[in-house]
Amino acid sequence: MQIIRATDYDHMSRMAANIISAQVIMKPDCVLGLATGSTPIGTYEQLIRWYEKGDLDFSRVRSINLDEYKGLSPENDQSYRYFMNEHLFRHINIKLENTNVPDGLEEDSEKACAAYNEIIRQSGGIDLQLLGLGHNGHIGFNEPSEEFIKETHCVDLAQSTIDANSRFFASMDLVPKQAYTMGIQTIMQAKKIVVVVSGKSKAEIVKAAFFGPCTPKVPASILQLHRDVVLVGDGEALSLVP
Ligand code: GLP
Repeated sequence: MQIIRATDYDHMSRMAANIISAQVIMKPDCVLGLATGSTPIGTYEQLIRWYEKGDLDFSRVRSINLDEYKGLSPENDQSYRYFMNEHLFRHINIKLENTNVPDGLEEDSEKACAAYNEIIRQSGGIDLQLLGLGHNGHIGFNEPSEEFIKETHCVDLAQSTIDANSRFFASMDLVPKQAYTMGIQTIMQAKKIVVVVSGKSKAEIVKAAFFGPCTPKVPASILQLHRDVVLVGDGEALSLVP
């Protein structure tokens, strides 16, 4: 694992965006695994700036997002499809038909997951996967569990995740309790993984995930077994890293 210590959030975002842009330049038809959450927003802003300058071309890039809330439509401003359109896709020249997010409106979980697994299979595999880190160690929406679940599945969100997400919804009843997420095996099969972490509140979980035992109770800890992981964090998030 490589660790990049950034001075602050902006620096972290530029470093992560540098790695992603190198991927796009080296392989213009690459498959990017993309993430939501507040942490990657600065990374996306930086990619947009470089696109606007003419330094990046996304016209042949395909993307596969990690997860989506079950029950939310793409028009719902809290859906991850909406997030991706707003924070990245509509600002760059990626073709919308080349972007993929699980279908939150598909009520049949088996069908939704099988369809997403097929999209992943047909893509030929993810070249670079961008990840954030949940406070309980989740990646995508792979919550702490007794086992690592391999492929796309429907998860019951942990209470701590529901609580963390509640700040974005008008009332607790509106916070989704389930989500579709890419599985751990799919994430681990990405050729390269970039994890972005920022802020003091992530320091404990960064230490547990990257320096503690490898266990499904801390899903991100499996990343220790991947051969090409870059952890990009600011000083606060990396403050407990040995
Ligand atoms: C959500 C997303 C994750 C993300 C996490 C952390 O649960 N499903 O992919 O990593 O939030 O979000 P933040 O970056 O806002 O801390």
